[in-house]
Amino acid sequence: MRNLLTLADLGAAEIDRIFSITEDLKSKHARGLREPLLPGRVMALLFEKPSLRTRVSFEAGMIHLGGTALFLGADVGFGRRESIADFGQVLSQYVDVIVVRANRHEMLLELAEHCTCSVINGLTDFAHPCQAMADLYTIRELAGQVEGHTLAWVGDANNVARSIALACGKVGMKMVMATPEKYQFDDESLAWIKRQAPDLDLTITTDPLEAVRDAVVIYTDVWASMGQEKHRRQRKKDFADYQVNAELMSHAQKGAVFMHCLPARRGEEVTDEVIDGPQSVVVQQAANRMHAQKGILAWLLGAKA
Ligand code: CP
Ligand code: NVA
Repeated sequence: MRNLLTLADLGAAEIDRIFSITEDLKSKHARGLREPLLPGRVMALLFEKPSLRTRVSFEAGMIHLGGTALFLGADVGFGRRESIADFGQVLSQYVDVIVVRANRHEMLLELAEHCTCSVINGLTDFAHPCQAMADLYTIRELAGQVEGHTLAWVGDANNVARSIALACGKVGMKMVMATPEKYQFDDESLAWIKRQAPDLDLTITTDPLEAVRDAVVIYTDVWASMGQEKHRRQRKKDFADYQVNAELMSHAQKGAVFMHCLPARRGEEVTDEVIDGPQSVVVQQAANRMHAQKGILAWLLGAKA
């Protein structure tokens, strides 16, 4: 029984295996085929924060695979009606896998500790591994061999950034981050990233121009993540020089692509011109959430794919 709580749970060979299942299922999907690799399997979704992509792509993906998805509402009382331990032990008796979107990463870890079925992180304040898996798959689809290429992260050193850092480390991509000093990874995060991805070539700067210069991927995310709403106004000021606009994109490598996990705050971290422009691959990224997660589910639940 395996979990996907952060990308640290997957080795490079396992990522390759998941991507080969993904590729197969994606090409079948394009031909109208839905291969039922997981008949009778049940997935529960437990979400403390809103979601479009993660929720719907997991639900649809599980249905394609012949399984069932149960979206659990507030009435199950996660973290309120009973201990996390009791909750996890009991829920594990009914379902094969639980996808959790938790406010605090510690809640996810505590739940996973007591579950006897697989647990997948559908985003916490610390990590968003399913996003990074889909993004890595998208980059490979676009660029083929990615080793030695540079990904520029422009913006907040947040949950997605942490997962992208591990993804880069796993496949030998360099990462250059442009982030205002007080929003850069703290020492604990940096130590964790170095421990989990010792080969990662990571450069941290405050200068977006320096970050994008050698980059073939420019990635950004919102300046205030879910749970940081009360700091939005301050962050908008502090990140004002970190917008990904046409001028910044013009300093990247020729053919560079623009990525964003979505939802985006248009006019803040990215302009309409860039996100709707020819370099943007945000819709392909979002589509690949479903395909990559089907690969993850089939792999995690041991389907004979
Ligand atoms: N990118 C992402 O996880 O989107 P949702 O918040 O809509 O799930
Ligand atoms: N960093 C964002 C990602 C949303 C998918 C957040 O946590 O709100």
